[in-house]
Amino acid sequence: MHDAAPARLIARRPAAALRGEVAIPGDKSISHRALMFGALAVGETRITGLLTGEDVLRTAAAMRALGAEVVADPDGTWRVAGRGVGGLTEPEDVLDMGNSGTAARLLCGILATHPLFAVMTGDASLRRRPMRRVIEPLSATGARFATREGGRLPLAVEGARDALPLDYVVPVPSAQVKSAVLLAGLNAQGTTRVEEREATRDHSENMLRHFGASVSVELAGAGRIITLHGQPELRAADVTVPGDPSSAAFPLVAALLVPGSALRLKGVGLNPLRTGLFTTLLEMGADMSVEDHRIEGGEPVGDLLVRHGPLRGVEVPPERAPSMIDEYPILAVAAACASGTTRMRGLKELRVKESDRLAATAALLQVNGVRVEIEGDDMIVHGTGAPPAGGGLVATHMDHRIAMAALVLGLVTAQPVTADEAGFIDTSFPGFVALMNGLGADLAPA
Ligand code: S3P
Repeated sequence: MHDAAPARLIARRPAAALRGEVAIPGDKSISHRALMFGALAVGETRITGLLTGEDVLRTAAAMRALGAEVVADPDGTWRVAGRGVGGLTEPEDVLDMGNSGTAARLLCGILATHPLFAVMTGDASLRRRPMRRVIEPLSATGARFATREGGRLPLAVEGARDALPLDYVVPVPSAQVKSAVLLAGLNAQGTTRVEEREATRDHSENMLRHFGASVSVELAGAGRIITLHGQPELRAADVTVPGDPSSAAFPLVAALLVPGSALRLKGVGLNPLRTGLFTTLLEMGADMSVEDHRIEGGEPVGDLLVRHGPLRGVEVPPERAPSMIDEYPILAVAAACASGTTRMRGLKELRVKESDRLAATAALLQVNGVRVEIEGDDMIVHGTGAPPAGGGLVATHMDHRIAMAALVLGLVTAQPVTADEAGFIDTSFPGFVALMNGLGADLAPA
């Protein structure tokens, strides 16, 4: 385990460039799913490279509370002894999903089609986030949900006994909603069908197949139709978790911005439904390339080579949002240091992340002297080609990605940048401070 990030952190311009090579911690989305599918499979699933961030540890605890055996070996391998589809048992206590929307929403899918009673809660950030987007479709299985006003946590669920399969068109681009429906479909009789109008990350579909479910994916315009045959026997399957491209984004942008930097980020997941940031940075003129492109555990992986260089503002189209939904705060930081204006379009979903990320990102930049506007669901960042003034105290709003984006900005601004609550970084990127400082950054308790 890593030391927890101190509550308040300050980032200063480092004395020298960022240099070196480093492995990126495991993918958060894939880690949650590996534990969940492992718990629903028959036999022992071995997971290597699992992210040990707090969000994923919440999922591990929840799977244990539901009767699966989840063990971390000293060598870093995790083993899950599953209960089989429909085999989870009633938890004795409240399931606390901490800061993690993915854990909470995917678990709702699992619970909906297990005939048991469960109560779920989360931290102050998660208790503000909308759960109706999963509860509404999942209720059609026969499950009964009761929530706080506005469909917020805590919630109680009584899972369906003879669950009905769902046929659902996801109204917002959300891999969490899609995945919740698919997870519910595992223990429903018959065929579950879920349609998304824009393709979102497909880790659930890939992993269902990997664990032996019969799942088909049909392209439909810009979206997809996924069909799953219910009540398969999932068989334990080993999972190798790639490095999280959403975490790689922070040292990556830091290297682009800090003069003279050159980094190799090893073993980064390159699933095309996750790489919108890389596409955008290349359009901005970033000096980056992929080496040692390979397939690991069914997912494309490679080493990212990145060097400092000038960036220019670009227009980021709304249809790219699902493939880089978590990367807008750090892209906004890159845009603030680029020459010219960057317009990021179609960011509505950013308002319901760990914080209202649209507002929090704009505030992060403003407090550090960057000109930024929000117009409807678009964010417009005006870069001057020179480092922003900095000197701001950034309100992170319990949001790990706002904290990390602020600290990367502070590596290039004239004055240091402070993040008020950096401890939340541990939800997705344990060891962030040590990793960044090991590359030459200057992050310190404030
Ligand atoms: C995730 C889906 C995305 C993303 C989140 C992880 C997942 O959320 O923001 O960090 O693992 O399915 P939405 O489904 O709300 O877009």
